[in-house]
Amino acid sequence: MTHTSLPQQRYIWGRRQSRPLKDNQRQALASLWPHVSLMLPAHSLINLPDLFSPPLEDLWIEIGFGGGEHLADQAALHPSIGFIGCEPFINGVASLVGYIQERSLNNVRIVKDDARLLLARLPDHIAGRIFVLFPDPWPKRRHNKRRIIQSQTVAEFARILKPGGLLMMATDDAVYAHWMQKVMAEYPVFGLALEERTSAYERPRDWPLTRYEQKGIAQGRTPVYLAYTLKG
Ligand SMILES: C[S@@+](CC[C@H](N)C(=O)[O-])C[C@H]1O[C@@H](n2cnc3c(N)ncnc32)[C@H](O)[C@@H]1O
Repeated sequence: MTHTSLPQQRYIWGRRQSRPLKDNQRQALASLWPHVSLMLPAHSLINLPDLFSPPLEDLWIEIGFGGGEHLADQAALHPSIGFIGCEPFINGVASLVGYIQERSLNNVRIVKDDARLLLARLPDHIAGRIFVLFPDPWPKRRHNKRRIIQSQTVAEFARILKPGGLLMMATDDAVYAHWMQKVMAEYPVFGLALEERTSAYERPRDWPLTRYEQKGIAQGRTPVYLAYTLKG
């Protein structure tokens, strides 16, 4: 059914809820969730035409979208593209559902779960872009295996992306930035895509700011933006 090498088990180590949801968030969730949620099939792959009808031009995926600011901006900028966002944190999911309602977005579907389960349910060469922006760095060495960027996840990105597709990652943790580049170096099928930039410290012009990124910059941290193309 699927060619994944990922474990078919849920691994979520971060928090799944912080403060209680506000009344308007509850109402938005209650009315929109049946339309925007994507329940992962138990024994088959996701069938894209079931998600977006009429079919959209491409599929972009965001893993760990946090409050959903980046995803909502991208979805508004690119109405002919379908987006799947994956985030286990209910307050973040409620925040994105709020943006979907405010901006009447109809090209976003949400998986409220561990991204590894989503990846395993995606067909080969289906996505034009995958975003993994400011994932939890898990700085303690004994927690490194919790990082979402691992050899197995990158193998899945290579399987899921279309040739020429882009993997966009960012982090403001220097150790994680080094880790990401080391894992990517295991996959020569990916090439670094700096495009018009001269270094990975230069912010790509077309990446809407994320909430975590803004907080980090305000606190004096320096983000690194890594973009890779899957060679055709
Ligand atoms: C540091 S936050 C960054 C959020 C957002 N990308 C931003 O830049 O504002 C990392 C996010 O990854 C999510 N996350 C953690 N483990 C995850 C997993 N296994 N699958 C998907 N998302 C995950 C967390 O809930 C959190 O919202």
